[in-house]
Amino acid sequence: MTDDVLIATRDPALADEVVRLAAAAGAEAIVVEETLAARQLWPSARSVLVARDLVTELAAAGPDRRPGVLVVTDRAVTDSEYRAALAVGAEQVIELSTSSHLVVEALTDAGDQAVPATTIAVIGGSGGAGASTFAAALAQTAARQLPTLLVDADPLGAGADRVLGLEEEPGVRWDDLARSVGRLSGRSLREAVPRRADLGVLTYPAGTVTPLEPGTVRRVLSAARRGHRAVIVDLPRTFTGGAEEVLAATDRVVVITVATVAGVAATVRLVARLGSGRTGIVVRGAGVDGATIGALTGLPVMAEMRDQRGLAEAVDLGAGPAHARRSVLARTAVEVLRDCGVAA
Ligand SMILES: Nc1ncnc2c1ncn2[C@@H]1O[C@H](COP(=O)(O)OP(=O)(O)OP(=O)(O)O)[C@@H](O)[C@H]1O
Ligand SMILES: [Mg+2]
Repeated sequence: MTDDVLIATRDPALADEVVRLAAAAGAEAIVVEETLAARQLWPSARSVLVARDLVTELAAAGPDRRPGVLVVTDRAVTDSEYRAALAVGAEQVIELSTSSHLVVEALTDAGDQAVPATTIAVIGGSGGAGASTFAAALAQTAARQLPTLLVDADPLGAGADRVLGLEEEPGVRWDDLARSVGRLSGRSLREAVPRRADLGVLTYPAGTVTPLEPGTVRRVLSAARRGHRAVIVDLPRTFTGGAEEVLAATDRVVVITVATVAGVAATVRLVARLGSGRTGIVVRGAGVDGATIGALTGLPVMAEMRDQRGLAEAVDLGAGPAHARRSVLARTAVEVLRDCGVAA
């Protein structure tokens, strides 16, 4: 796969316009005028744009099926040109005079995952239950196998980058994304956030934070899901900061509860607000047993875990909470990820 967009046309005006649209999507373009050259680059190009003037000739050459083929045209296509577009496997036929923005959108999305990431929100049943820690452990564990993003949606938290030891890595934060406009591709978000190998983090800037607009949260989460295979969101118990938008884009919700009577009582309240369906409980520490917590909350208990010794030290050293594979948090994270259908 090259990063280039293949443009097949002999029409200089069409070529100019489509090269300009590719540039608007941040892509380099290679223009070819011959069917043979087009067929050579066909399998490896990031996307293929066939202009109307070459579509019939290319259809006759019978290129292999591949995703990301568009036919672009400067006027309404004839029936036979439309059939040729189907024959080359075009996903869309786009008339440039009215719909050139569709070309930019399609090229922007071209590097994204076909299936959006499994998205798991983590929330504490009571304050300090260990939600931010567990969210970081889930992200760190998922990232051993899959491109993963930890999204910090708690403006008053310590910062998810700090929990993972990524605070020195350069990259965009919520405030940068709130200022940006237009469609955000999954790939560009993945490449822009602070990351170490397959583990990325999106958090707030240091200092005072401005509340997020619901539209920003929607747009960014959509790109996060298109650009990764697992997205873990640390959700504040206050339900501020776009929590409704997060919940709308979430496949599973994990509530962390401490096993004390007071902790469980608070969790029961929180759960009443969250609703059931895709929600499960993870119990931390000894005390009230899992079966009782399950009965009181009416939710499945996904895992019970001991407190992890040496947690503060591991986080202070920048190793993250699930650095050691045999640690309690890493093993519990594997269990919960499997329960959520994420390979781990
Ligand atoms: N798995 C764990 N084992 C041992 N201690 C833990 C664990 N998880 C959290 N803690 C302790 O609890 C403290 C609070 O954890 P964390 O910040 O993850 O909780 P939270 O639910 O996100 O809190 P908040 O309500 O402030 O968002 C940590 O500093 C740590 O000392
Ligand atoms: Mg927290």
